[in-house]
Amino acid sequence: MSLVNRSCVTIDDLSNGEIEALFSLADKMSDSMNDQSRVCQGKIMASLFFEPSTRTRLSFEAAMLRLGGQVISAVDIGATSLAKGESIADMARVVGSYADIIVIRHPWEGAAKVVADYAGIPVINAGDGGHEHPTQALCDLYTIRKERQTIKGLKIALFGDLKYGRAVHSLTYALARFGAIILFPPSPGLEMPDNVLSKLTTEYKGKLIRLEAPNQEVKGRFFPLDAIYMTPSSSHQLAMLPDISIQIELKKAGIDTLYVIRLQKERHAPTVEGQNLERDYPVVDRKLLKEKEFKRTLVMHPLPRIDELAYELDADPRSMYFKQAAYGVPVRMALIALLLGAKEVMISKEEDSFVQKVDYPIYERDFGVRCLNSNCVSNQETEARYMRPDFRIISLEPLTLRCIYCEHELHPQYIASSDWHEGKLENKKYHSAESHWIRKIKPENLIIFGSENEAQARGFNPSKYVTVDR
Ligand code: CP
Repeated sequence: MSLVNRSCVTIDDLSNGEIEALFSLADKMSDSMNDQSRVCQGKIMASLFFEPSTRTRLSFEAAMLRLGGQVISAVDIGATSLAKGESIADMARVVGSYADIIVIRHPWEGAAKVVADYAGIPVINAGDGGHEHPTQALCDLYTIRKERQTIKGLKIALFGDLKYGRAVHSLTYALARFGAIILFPPSPGLEMPDNVLSKLTTEYKGKLIRLEAPNQEVKGRFFPLDAIYMTPSSSHQLAMLPDISIQIELKKAGIDTLYVIRLQKERHAPTVEGQNLERDYPVVDRKLLKEKEFKRTLVMHPLPRIDELAYELDADPRSMYFKQAAYGVPVRMALIALLLGAKEVMISKEEDSFVQKVDYPIYERDFGVRCLNSNCVSNQETEARYMRPDFRIISLEPLTLRCIYCEHELHPQYIASSDWHEGKLENKKYHSAESHWIRKIKPENLIIFGSENEAQARGFNPSKYVTVDR
């Protein structure tokens, strides 16, 4: 099977079978590094890093050089014409005519998708704001698989800033797809975003369960804990762990992987509801790992670390983070070679039994509702010249839209039909999204407004169904 000319913007751009095949290729490349120097000869990779990076950028560049290709790069947005007001789409078109593949890191969520939409060549997302970092998830999965041979059934705790940690978003989706049990220990103010949790339950048919610590005495400890755990319920994935036994199971068998991330200070204010996030940030150290639950735990971190992971753990055989970083080269070599068509892989149908992608209808209009995420690429002045906000309609009741760029979800309150006239302008009415009109308006006529002001600015008047008794 060929992955040629495909892009990797989210981890869901690769099926489970493709990820497994990529890992086999990474194994082979790793075992014969010196034989890879002609695989991408004559090819050029554009390395565009508009946020700081050590591992991702340098491992991508090392990967391309080891494959015999060449690299052109831009590492400072201020040194590109983006600083003059050029749009991302124009930059993508131009760089797409200079290179064979683009790797991009950008602070705006959804920026990598725009580049992939316009470049005309394969694009790899090396991190777009707080959205996703799919190749970090590949390195993480590869590390776990190397150490434990499988992902299925492992109990994996994600620890730290789950709200803004893009690597942990991609990893969560991948772990769910491969049948891990994912635990989200408490991280007040920094919990996993609703849109990520929502995708786990809608796309991956996962089940979210909130576990309450049974009493105050155990509440301060890592386990048992207040947590949400997610276990896939699809028949081809992991058999359900009975809810009642999860805490007993954790105590008895322990936790397989503790995945730690730093506070993503660059993405939010230092305090949330009066809480000092930096001061109160959890620390993983020797003392914590003395707990019985961590006896065989792999300690992982995408790096860079700040204070959340003690240096005293570096020599501990459970610590995996430098291996994780080192695997970046063979994993990224395999990905580049596959997307450039320099290598092909065999994937059996059985291996490729990934949860089916849901084909949600798209809502696309030049006016009406906008994404509420101020960091979404669709809300930036330079991009608004050519881009309209598009959404997937995840559900009608309640009305739930997911931005196609940053994947944030919203629940707009007002709807109307474009088929309003029937010869009478006074019928140009808007209604509550909770009224029966949500079922009555044909999908192709549906207009969605984020506010009454938006609706009225378009010449719509309130119907008697603008307020609905709950
Ligand atoms: N893990 C990771 O993305 O590291 P860098 O920011 O150094 O690339």
